[in-house]
Amino acid sequence: MQHNFTTLKSHYRFTKDDEALLLQMKSELEPFVDEFLEGFYEFIWNFGETADFLKDEEVIARHRGKIREWYLNLFSGTYEASYFLKLYKIGEIHVKLGLPTHYVNAAFNYVRVFTLGRINKQYSGNDDLTDRFKAVEKILDINLDTLTSSYREEEMGRFLSLSRIEKTLLGALKKTSAYFNYLLAGALVMVAFFAVGLFGYDVYLLFSRQTSIEQGILTTLGSLLILWAAIELIHEEMRHLRGGSFALEAFITLAIAALIRKILIFSLSSTKAMDVLLYGVLVLCLGISYWLIVQRAGPIKK
Ligand code: HEM
Repeated sequence: MQHNFTTLKSHYRFTKDDEALLLQMKSELEPFVDEFLEGFYEFIWNFGETADFLKDEEVIARHRGKIREWYLNLFSGTYEASYFLKLYKIGEIHVKLGLPTHYVNAAFNYVRVFTLGRINKQYSGNDDLTDRFKAVEKILDINLDTLTSSYREEEMGRFLSLSRIEKTLLGALKKTSAYFNYLLAGALVMVAFFAVGLFGYDVYLLFSRQTSIEQGILTTLGSLLILWAAIELIHEEMRHLRGGSFALEAFITLAIAALIRKILIFSLSSTKAMDVLLYGVLVLCLGISYWLIVQRAGPIKK
């Protein structure tokens, strides 16, 4: 621990001068701690699923007390083993709760903006304003580094606990899935070209009078809808290749678009009323599945 925390401080070039400056600022910032807390909870409440973690008034009150203590300790001027041990424990508790690391990173943005804003107001015009900013930036980065180290260790731990064969298999599977993903991306581009072809064919039928104007326009609209859904699917695949999660809903959108095209065509024939009804029920089922998936994914794709 001794070695770890001194190395960490040296990597951030966190000096005794920084420690002294932080301690000096404590008394100036202490009166604003309630304002800080108000803003902190307003900020993290916007994450959408905060209430899943800060479940009731009792937990919120306890957390509020802990955040107050943590915030004031940023300016304690003493940053030794016990300080880092505490931070590490906070990180571990967050990991155990399954709190997304993104929430902690985002919350730090609020802490940073609030604190630098306050210091700017309090010390503007002082020669050492930049040094004060630097000291705060360093201690915040050190805190974030330590708080999120538990997340990294958990990931590493999961990886290290695998046997050699499992690791080799995992590596091979990753590579294979990457190749298949590129194959899928190529196939999707092909589908988009087919959709353009379908659109062109529908326009041709319309202008060569091989279909009625009404049917021609509706069919062309349907193929445009499919083209739009195929482009959406390509976007999703691109996001997936960049490391994001794949959105199943994009496939459902494409299926809905294809069914709507059928409905548009069949709606003109009085003998196809039953087909229209069946396709309508299918669209409804797919719509419900789409809604359920979007609800589960929540506002942030993890
Ligand atoms: C700047 C970011 C944050 C800091 C510094 C922080 C700090 C802390 C601290 C000091 C504790 C108490 C650890 C202990 O008992 O020893 C804690 C626990 C907890 N934190 Fe955070 N937290 C942060 C962000 C968040 C966010 C964004 C959420 C939720 C969305 C959250 C949810 C929780 C919960 C649910 C607990 C357990 C509370 C309990 O049951 O006592 N924290 N956190």
